Amino acid sequence: MDARSKPLLRALSGEPVWPPPFWLMRQAGRYLPEYRRVRAEVPDFVALCTDPARAAEVTLQPLRRYGMDAAILFSDILMVPWALKRDLRFAEGEGPLLAPLRTMAEVEALDVGGVAAAAPVFETVARLAEALPREHPGAALIGFAGGCWTVACYMVEGRGGGEFAAARRMAHAEPGLFAALMERLEQATIRYLAAQAKAGAEALMIFDSWAGLLSPQGFRRWVIGPTARIRAALKELVPEVPVIGFPRLSGPLIAEYARETGVEAVAMDTGLDPAWARDAVPPWVALQGNLDPMALVAGGEGMMREVEAILGALRGRPFVFNLGHGVVPPTPPEHVAALAARLRQG
Ligand code: CP3
Repeated sequence: MDARSKPLLRALSGEPVWPPPFWLMRQAGRYLPEYRRVRAEVPDFVALCTDPARAAEVTLQPLRRYGMDAAILFSDILMVPWALKRDLRFAEGEGPLLAPLRTMAEVEALDVGGVAAAAPVFETVARLAEALPREHPGAALIGFAGGCWTVACYMVEGRGGGEFAAARRMAHAEPGLFAALMERLEQATIRYLAAQAKAGAEALMIFDSWAGLLSPQGFRRWVIGPTARIRAALKELVPEVPVIGFPRLSGPLIAEYARETGVEAVAMDTGLDPAWARDAVPPWVALQGNLDPMALVAGGEGMMREVEAILGALRGRPFVFNLGHGVVPPTPPEHVAALAARLRQG
């Protein structure tokens, strides 16, 4: 299929495609037995993300079952700090653990050119770009990075699972230090995303999962600012590739984000009312989202009522069906099949 006729890319270019293209955040993962089998062979999660053959394999697993309109690169937003040589490991049941970054000396030691160390991730993208046209010709390949704010939260704090008090405090109390970190992350993220596009990613997504922790002022400075500069730089480097932004939990500020950053689409989190977003977000910016991941766990009529409400609100608008956050491990795979069948009817 000609790349531009892929439903996801048409929707991202502003066309109201119906039935809407769909894919799911965290569509590859522990809810799938075939993922758990690969994971058992590679107990170290970073090792899986840097194993192009296995990472490409798990990327494709959900498409084989459900025929999504997009494959999202299997990797993690914390591969940027990893490439910049910050210690990273994923502890069972604890999520990511990093060496906490607290000083200007540590910021100055970050070499933005070091993202080249993420070469295995770019190799995974290249393998997928080669395999997709043969195996899933209508599906588009999405590359991604974390938003600089969200990645900085993990780097400063050294872990997730809390409210990122150390990172938020640093942004207020040591703005020079925090800005220096953010500038390096911005440069590294531009290179990291451009390299994925050059390896064959057809769309790019920026996950700013913790955008909602900021005040409106902080949101403008640490989320809208860096995202707008990253979007502009990518326009120069890889002009054809659309960007989806996900300023999670930003509430009505998502409309300002959509206007100011230049992204082609915004992903709505579960709490956002799609009927509000339809009118508040500029019509040239596509919307993505936003089924509650817990509705997918529940399945049945409860899930279908939520799906109908979203479809009803966004029919006729450039739209990509997705969840409001990632698929969670207890999700029954057959509920995803039921969702896919409903979405195909439009
Ligand atoms: O969406 C996909 O299928 C592509 C792969 C992907 C992963 N992480 C794989 C992963 C993507 C796009 C991400 C993004 C990511 N990673 C975000 C932004 C999106 C979001 O969920 O808010 C964040 C904040 C992270 C950081 C991260 N990675 C955390 C907090 C955790 C632990 C939580 C958990 O679910 O265990 C991870 C680990 C991780 N990343 C897993 C997967 C499949 C689980 C690891 C495992 O298999 O044990």
